[in-house]
Amino acid sequence: MMKEDFKALEMRGDELVLLDQRLLPTVVEDFVCHTVEDVYFAIRDMVVRGAPAIGGAAGYGVLFAAREAKGDIEAFRRSCEHLIAARPTAVNLSWAVRRVAKVAEESGLDEERIRAEADAIVAEDIAMNHRIGEIGSSLIRPGATILTHCNTGALATCGWGTALGVIKTAWSKGLVKHVYADETRPRFQGARLTAWELVRAGIPATLIPDSAAATLIRDGRIDCVILGADRITANGDVANKLGTFALSCICKLYGVPFYSAAPTSTIDFDMASGDMIEIEERPQDEVTHVNGSQVAASGIGVYNPAFDVTPHSNVTGIITEEGIIREPYDVNIAALRRRLGR
Ligand code: MRU
Repeated sequence: MMKEDFKALEMRGDELVLLDQRLLPTVVEDFVCHTVEDVYFAIRDMVVRGAPAIGGAAGYGVLFAAREAKGDIEAFRRSCEHLIAARPTAVNLSWAVRRVAKVAEESGLDEERIRAEADAIVAEDIAMNHRIGEIGSSLIRPGATILTHCNTGALATCGWGTALGVIKTAWSKGLVKHVYADETRPRFQGARLTAWELVRAGIPATLIPDSAAATLIRDGRIDCVILGADRITANGDVANKLGTFALSCICKLYGVPFYSAAPTSTIDFDMASGDMIEIEERPQDEVTHVNGSQVAASGIGVYNPAFDVTPHSNVTGIITEEGIIREPYDVNIAALRRRLGR
């Protein structure tokens, strides 16, 4: 099995070291966090991004929050809420902060216990991703051509990846012929990050403008679409990177399987449906500028939602470390919740 030689996040001594994803692929440089404010900034500015990687980094943010609080539990709680506010859509952020904060409060802000819990989130995420890869690769027929969107690889997680993890596992089993990666406007996670990971892994891949996907799907050149999720609600609706919903509609129209791959930490069991998900709107200059250069007319209005919601009726299956969830999603997600005791 191939192994990555990079990590999106790693706690080294007292520092949280993030691979700065704003600079890839041309500059490979770390961004080092020492404070909860550093972690807040890194998540908000997308130094670290991808739902599970955000969760992993936030766990260590809680450690910094506890250290800075110096026993003041109210100050600690305020820092945790601040961290959660960094980005609203990926549920892994609040899930991780609440999980580590609970241990923090129960242990009287004991740093060793807090760090162990944050480490556990990272270790579990890597293990879950390998399991997702194994389970998801059972869906891939030999010689498959797969299309993916955004970046869901080792950079977007604590290691290996979700949808890209499925692709890598299937590739290592000799099942994948080719991968198409959407460039993923406006932040180019596909062009900058997925392409970087695919090239490093030696997987034959082609980068496409997002709007080329419809033609490839219509022409029968895609066997399935696999992408990630930022929040999956109790009825199986999937919030993911902007463009996911459109892809799901095209897949439905042409009968192409459409899978979302995510750990169960991305399922928001308490949220009934996708209409309730807060969709982050990001700054206008992400659309009007590329790498600091203006590409749009000055004075134009901009709408820049970072994510969209795909209705469960467009989703062929949700690949988790616990198995593949299919219709009826509400019943099957409720059963999963009972099984996990969440
Ligand atoms: O805005 P981003 O880059 O954080 O968005 C990332 C995505 O939408 C991913 O598909 C999702 O987080 C899953 S990552 C395994």
